[in-house]
Amino acid sequence: MFKEDTLSGKTILITGGGSGLGLAMAKGFASCGADIAICGRTREKLDNAVKEIEAEKEGAVARGYTCDVRDYEAVNGMFENIVSDFGSLEGLVNNAAGNFLSASEDLSPGGFKAVVDIVLHGSFNCTHVFGNYLIDQKKKGNILNMVTTYAEGTGCAFVLPSACGKAGVLAMTRSLAFEWATYGIRLNAIAPGPFPTEGAWSRLVPDRVLEKKFKAKVPMKRYGEKEELANLAIFLMSDLADYITGECVVIDGGERLQAGQFNFIDGLMSRSKLKKLFKAMKPK
Ligand code: HXC
Repeated sequence: MFKEDTLSGKTILITGGGSGLGLAMAKGFASCGADIAICGRTREKLDNAVKEIEAEKEGAVARGYTCDVRDYEAVNGMFENIVSDFGSLEGLVNNAAGNFLSASEDLSPGGFKAVVDIVLHGSFNCTHVFGNYLIDQKKKGNILNMVTTYAEGTGCAFVLPSACGKAGVLAMTRSLAFEWATYGIRLNAIAPGPFPTEGAWSRLVPDRVLEKKFKAKVPMKRYGEKEELANLAIFLMSDLADYITGECVVIDGGERLQAGQFNFIDGLMSRSKLKKLFKAMKPK
């Protein structure tokens, strides 16, 4: 679907790009010709990621920047460094996130703040600095926000700070998609379902019983592959999607559809038994 030059001429910053889905997207963008900037809090992780990205695609250019996205001044400095190193910046993926399981009555204010600061304030900080850069330079640009399937509609038990933060990020995506369309800036979101990564799974899926239940909830009965997510991100960051803005694309193997009132029947017995049951119920 994509060519080696689908993203050529673009430099893209992926926050939290040193591992997991952020790194998978960085590799996908590089494979389509983009220059890559990644940021995170740990130098060593970034250095390893840069090596991986450059090893996977001949001629790929990647650089790592240590930055805590919660710190506006640090974010500002990072964007200045990226523009000075690469000459320009065309894309931003707000991927850095924090999350952990907790009964909400046991949350400390500090725990709530830590997650909302990374997810919502971090995304705002990067978006605000990048947006101003694009507006000042009269450049078109593209912002992709990683949210979750619980950012809209349901919220989510036991991950309250993440649910609040991601809902805010989705609201920001749509608000600015309208407000900044006049500047040629697009904003979209991706809501991934279960894509196992070390960072997320160690905090959110602590044992095998939960892991099994997690997979069973997905109608496709499998987890997402990182490359599947990267392909969607490549499309949304490319000029192929130039008329798409303010959209949130769900990629979850149908997991979000569980609420359908009779969907639970699917898990009660085999499909052939179900069919027999339905046949027996049919009026003669
Ligand atoms: C309760 C916790 C906690 C836990 C931390 N805290 N972990 N409370 N249960 N498991 C509290 C601490 O007690 C402290 O509160 C406050 O949070 C800050 O903790 P620190 O460790 O000092 O903060 P920090 O180092 O900044 O860590 C931030 C973090 C951490 C969010 C807590 O988990 C993190 O850095 N995560 C980044 C990576 C990550 O989580 N990735 C997964 C994202 S997955 P006090 O009151 O003492 O100050 C995702 C997708 C979801 O978002 C969709 C999945 C399907």
